[in-house]
Amino acid sequence: MIKPDAVEGNHTGAIIRMIEEAGFRVVAIKKTQLTPERAGQFYAVHRERPFYNDLRTYMSSGAIVPMILEKENAVADFRKLIGATNPAQAEEGTIRKLYAKSLEANAIHGSDSDENAEIEGNFFFAATEQY
Ligand code: CMP
Repeated sequence: MIKPDAVEGNHTGAIIRMIEEAGFRVVAIKKTQLTPERAGQFYAVHRERPFYNDLRTYMSSGAIVPMILEKENAVADFRKLIGATNPAQAEEGTIRKLYAKSLEANAIHGSDSDENAEIEGNFFFAATEQY
């Protein structure tokens, strides 16, 4: 999911290009905006964390671009491509190093397991649709 800071900064195309050049296939994509409630649902695992309320506000502050991506070893390879959560710690050449503004406004989200990729994909794209 490309986050509001990167969409607002007009980096959507550049980020998708990096994703495709890294060998991922974009299976589903759209531009949409979350309400604070939906953002809270998406990040429900973080509801006890001190940054949860700010995260909900930030994630509903502008348009986002969720995608379903396909590749062998996709979860691990995507995490390498996007870099560390905190852009200050992200490696050179990663999406977050190039485009993230801060720990919160960090340009992009990637699923942390195949199981969560399925849950998060279904959150944005109807589970019954065929890709
Ligand atoms: P993401 O990988 O999408 O997962 C949770 C998000 O919470 C994270 O990226 C950041 O956008 C945001 N966040 C804000 N503060 C923190 C923090 N201290 N630790 C981790 N994530 C944070």
